[in-house]
Amino acid sequence: MRIVLGVSGGIAAYKACSLLRSFSEDGHDVTVVPTAAALRFVGAPTWAALSGKPVSDDVWSQVHEVPHVRLGQQADLVVVAPATADLLAKAAHGIADDLLTNTLLTAHCPVVLAPAMHTEMWQHPATVANVATLRERGVHVMDPASGRLTGADSGPGRLPEPADIAAYCAPFLTGDPSDLRDLAGLHVLVTAGGTREPLDPVRYLGNRSSGKQGYALAAVAARRGAQVTLVSTVSTPAPPGCALVRVETALQLRDAVLAADADVVVMAAAVADFRPDHAATAKIKKTFDPATPDAAPIVQLVRNPDILAELLTRRGEGTAPVLVGFAAETGDEHGSVLDHARAKLARKPVDLLVANEVGDGVTFGQDDTTVHLLSGDGATPRDIGPADKTAVAHAVWDAVRDIRGTV
Ligand code: CTP
Repeated sequence: MRIVLGVSGGIAAYKACSLLRSFSEDGHDVTVVPTAAALRFVGAPTWAALSGKPVSDDVWSQVHEVPHVRLGQQADLVVVAPATADLLAKAAHGIADDLLTNTLLTAHCPVVLAPAMHTEMWQHPATVANVATLRERGVHVMDPASGRLTGADSGPGRLPEPADIAAYCAPFLTGDPSDLRDLAGLHVLVTAGGTREPLDPVRYLGNRSSGKQGYALAAVAARRGAQVTLVSTVSTPAPPGCALVRVETALQLRDAVLAADADVVVMAAAVADFRPDHAATAKIKKTFDPATPDAAPIVQLVRNPDILAELLTRRGEGTAPVLVGFAAETGDEHGSVLDHARAKLARKPVDLLVANEVGDGVTFGQDDTTVHLLSGDGATPRDIGPADKTAVAHAVWDAVRDIRGTV
């Protein structure tokens, strides 16, 4: 695999030599991109000798090869170790004033940043905000190790040990042969999790959706080369390469979906059909009405907008985005899971409907699931599983890729 090893200007730069060695010994092709400040700690000859490649920190060498774009585009993984407070700030703000920061802006692959700095700098609100921004965008910012720093002081801010950084990067370097790039050039939006509809500042109406299938769909799409926006109600960090938009309610989810200009929208979220018509501004007390101390409040519900139906109306006939709906069904005396799914497809004629059986202990929160893929053209449903949610995600994207050929 092709790794870009970025090194920014901290004294821990010397430890990146061991990381480079370990990547090379595992058979990876490593290009080292230091910053000018890093070269004051460890010189270019060291990096060139250890990597067997020329080393440059600016965008003015080998210009005919356009390295400031090519390196990031072709990399399978970009790792920056150490990542200083300055490097994190530049990455968070999209500043591109040298080869490394240009590479960070052009990378489609997972990006791992291993911070190293003094504790005060790590805990400074500016750095905390920059790390949060980067993590929301799907960048993997490791937590620094705790211990002795450059001087006599100690605390969080040490560069994690090279072996720990290598172990953290290992899942991104599996060289999985199923790692297609067949979704490159597509912007896909995936919604995940169950909406939470507030009753008061501490309570909400929710559902059992864990968001796992949505996260698997986002992760697989990113691995297959798509630009991914994940609109999620759960607190799980974004998978590598996915931009995360966190929402709570159906109305917020609707705004996030309608604001995006995506080629494919996958509505994996369990959107509440109803919300309390008004959320109390203060906590509702047990004795909410002193005149009738034993009474219970009556919650009036109102309909939420149906986001998928709205997307269908907006897009008109046969135009983008490709729309994928989910049908979480239990089956009942009126029909099987598949019967209900077919009826739903007739009501909401999406390009692909992913139907699955749900209930207490079935699907929600589980790693394995069985789904039926019903395409809008009325073809025979395809049954997938029982399979893990990553395998289901691959099957869904295979179907979307085929539909893209016809929509
Ligand atoms: N959905 C939506 N907006 C809603 C409710 C659902 O966009 N307010 C989406 C879901 O994300 C899912 C699909 O519509 O992709 C099917 O949702 P579901 O609630 O199961 O279908 P309904 O048509 O609402 O039918 P029912 O609740 O009666 O099963």
